[in-house]
Amino acid sequence: MSLLPHCLNFNLFCFTGALCQKSTLKPRPTDVPDMPPCILQPEEYTGMSKERMMEIRRQNCNPMVMKVTNYKKPVFIHQGYMQWLWDVDGKRYLDLFACVATVSVGHCHPKVVAAAEKQLKRVWHTTNIYVNPPLHEYCEKLASYFPDPLKVVYLTNSGSEANDLAMLMARLHTRNFDIITFRGSYHGGSQQTLGLTSNVAYKYPVANGLGCTNTMCPDVFRGPWGGSHCRDSPVQTNRECGCAQGHCMAKDQYIGQLKETFQTSVPSQIAAFFGEPIQGAGGAVQYPKSYLKEAYKLVRERGGICIADEVQTGFGRTGSHFWGFQGHDVIPDMVTMAKGIGNGFPMGAIVTTKEIASSFGKGLHFNTFGGNPLACAVASSVLDTIAEDGAQQSSLTVGTYLMTELAKLRDKYEIIGDVRGKGLQIGVEMVKDKASRDPLPLEAMSEIFEDIKDMGVLIGKGGLYGQTFRIQPPMCITMEDAEFFLDIFNKSIHNYMERK
Ligand SMILES: Cc1ncc(COP(=O)(O)O)c(C=O)c1O
Repeated sequence: MSLLPHCLNFNLFCFTGALCQKSTLKPRPTDVPDMPPCILQPEEYTGMSKERMMEIRRQNCNPMVMKVTNYKKPVFIHQGYMQWLWDVDGKRYLDLFACVATVSVGHCHPKVVAAAEKQLKRVWHTTNIYVNPPLHEYCEKLASYFPDPLKVVYLTNSGSEANDLAMLMARLHTRNFDIITFRGSYHGGSQQTLGLTSNVAYKYPVANGLGCTNTMCPDVFRGPWGGSHCRDSPVQTNRECGCAQGHCMAKDQYIGQLKETFQTSVPSQIAAFFGEPIQGAGGAVQYPKSYLKEAYKLVRERGGICIADEVQTGFGRTGSHFWGFQGHDVIPDMVTMAKGIGNGFPMGAIVTTKEIASSFGKGLHFNTFGGNPLACAVASSVLDTIAEDGAQQSSLTVGTYLMTELAKLRDKYEIIGDVRGKGLQIGVEMVKDKASRDPLPLEAMSEIFEDIKDMGVLIGKGGLYGQTFRIQPPMCITMEDAEFFLDIFNKSIHNYMERK
């Protein structure tokens, strides 16, 4: 029996065009723009009822799943293909959140499915006690995407696990303990990484994150300093800028805050600084240009290593570069990654230097599943697919267009405060009004969010106050999809303003 999902077999016929799905099975509201066509006809869903699933969700699933059920009327996903998801009723959605920035090249991408199927039939699991080809092929391939001296790969099963390991390695290598991260960040939910994570929603009243200190996030829109030239994005803030050409005062002020953290909150020698190149869960927050470069220098002067968390920004998503750190003109000592690495297959990784790896090599570290052949075959095919499909270039083109057009909506509507990002890592920050920049209340955010979903588009939310819409789609979205979303977004804001 073929392990290819029915959808993909069917897809072969769909390429003829005769059976292409022009619209969703369920009629959509009549005044909603037409959804771009899709080549796949989904399978008919004949499984468990929605009511029964919700009952099980309440009774047998951990209570967190209810907490994160994002919509008032939940979405019940049955099938996916590239940038499309179908619910159990056959309604089609344009997925602009990639199931939290994770499905990098597209749901059930045929090339990745084929690679997984091939490896599934050969061998699923071995152990590092033996030598298996997929692990070695993948480590060599992944390392080739990094500049020197980042050449040693550790494979894990998630981003939290990668960041946990990074903390341990940084401490062992430097023989220091303290680690600094940005406020508003999310770096994981394990007891160690909760110390890096700096958002009240994820914190528990238990001892965690011993030796972790948060510093001010250099957020040029919401923070105390910022102007209209600070960030590396096609769209700047609407704030005034009085800086001389080539000199960013906001950057100096935020670096001043970091220096104050060094003066007041940590010992003179530290273990590490962790930062995402663009803060993802914080709502695609971007720092002033050159901030990271200067911060890295200060951290290294204090004995620390610099760690880039590329869980969201890696694998071409930012468009201009394959890794987010390259956009800041820095080379970290360690890079952590997950999410998009496996297009949704559970996997994470660290890439670091030989020196740091050898400090860690003094003990024995073992990970049963990290780097199993199936994960490596999938991840290897993801790297090939990004190259073959031109996903990074497409992120740049479609993402830049989306941001430029969203900026026009920002200028049109008082409640759109900021549009920012790079490539397909986009944040749209919503405010009560432009003058105060106070966050749009949660109820209003939910209303707009629900309306966008009802009109057929899934996006994400983030920010310390839940005030930022996040757009981080599979990198296969097209200009036509972007146009469709812009129409829907415009309409949802218009609807909200009318109801007010
Ligand atoms: C930037 C960043 N780092 C780390 C993590 C943790 O990854 P995981 O959920 O795979 O443990 C996340 C997850 O959202 C993340 O966004």
